Amino acid sequence: MSTEPLNICVLGGTGFVGTALVSRLTQDGHWVRVPTRNRTHGEALRVLPTVELVEANIHDPGTLGRLLTGMDVAVNLVGILNEHGRSTFQAAHAALAGKLVAALKAARVRRLLQMSSLGASAQGPSRYLRSKGEAEAHLRAATHLDFTLFRPSVIFGPGDSLTNRFAALLRLSGGVLPLARAHTRFAPVYVGDVAEAVARALGERRSCGQTYELGGPEVMTLEDIVRLTARVARLPCHILRLPDTLGRLQAAVLGLLPGKPLTLDNFRSLTVDSVCGVDGFARLGLAPRRMMEVLPGYLPLPERLTLSST
Ligand SMILES: NC(=O)c1ccc[n+]([C@@H]2O[C@H](COP(=O)([O-])OP(=O)(O)OC[C@H]3O[C@@H](n4cnc5c(N)ncnc54)[C@H](OP(=O)(O)O)[C@@H]3O)[C@@H](O)[C@H]2O)c1
Repeated sequence: MSTEPLNICVLGGTGFVGTALVSRLTQDGHWVRVPTRNRTHGEALRVLPTVELVEANIHDPGTLGRLLTGMDVAVNLVGILNEHGRSTFQAAHAALAGKLVAALKAARVRRLLQMSSLGASAQGPSRYLRSKGEAEAHLRAATHLDFTLFRPSVIFGPGDSLTNRFAALLRLSGGVLPLARAHTRFAPVYVGDVAEAVARALGERRSCGQTYELGGPEVMTLEDIVRLTARVARLPCHILRLPDTLGRLQAAVLGLLPGKPLTLDNFRSLTVDSVCGVDGFARLGLAPRRMMEVLPGYLPLPERLTLSST
């Protein structure tokens, strides 16, 4: 595939993965259009010279069509973990993928790269995973598209809502953490490696029609991830492993709080392991990083320790 500078529209480009990917794409000299619901969400991208941040409603087919006009490639990173008002799993994942497939056809854009998730399936245990599965089905049914799907495990890195959230919870609770599904297994993957995989696939013709599972080099339980986070951030850590009955109850209660730290749908997603069957990074000729190589670079240490070490 061409290594010429491309015009790329990145839906969901203001998010955690999006910010890493858009910045990576600009390093290759591409021009990137990033629609957002609110321009302030894309502050981190404004410094990048070849990025166009556009406030737009991507759920409106006419608007979506205009955003894609003149583009060579579309990337869809839009995703939610919790529903808020009109932002439902169905709307943000399944329906949007359907609209995107139709809009790409109308705009004569053939290439689409889409971020899904390990475990995405019409038969998945949660509405999150089922809607992601439905979104994948829209792409697979589109004969006019050269699509590439990515199915990452849980993603970590600066600004993540995984290690940063656990560190914040441990700090707040004095280190005591009642944890649902502590034994669920993940292959935590670094956000920079996910961005690299997408950039690599973009440049490789043979990635068309392929699905890449993206996991880091280590399989870890949720409890392992919390313990490693605590160790790196030098926080006390006493995990109370909740049986599923209590875990479900915890999710039901936390799902009612502002910010929904954990919902019943999240709990259901956690009932399946999030590990790779086939190593997508190896297929792309990449070697992903271990958590321990990256975490010390961004997890803040307790103020007391930082001050005493300066
Ligand atoms: N982070 C992980 O651990 C992880 C793991 C597996 C899969 N994934 C998938 O990777 C993708 C990126 O995840 P992320 O962590 O970067 O998410 P994120 O930080 O929450 O960013 C989500 C992006 O989607 C956009 N968005 C959210 N709801 C939307 C809606 N209703 N309508 C239009 N745009 C909406 C946001 O754009 P604006 O706010 O600017 O409009 C934002 O740019 C998602 O598809 C996610 O499911 C993530």
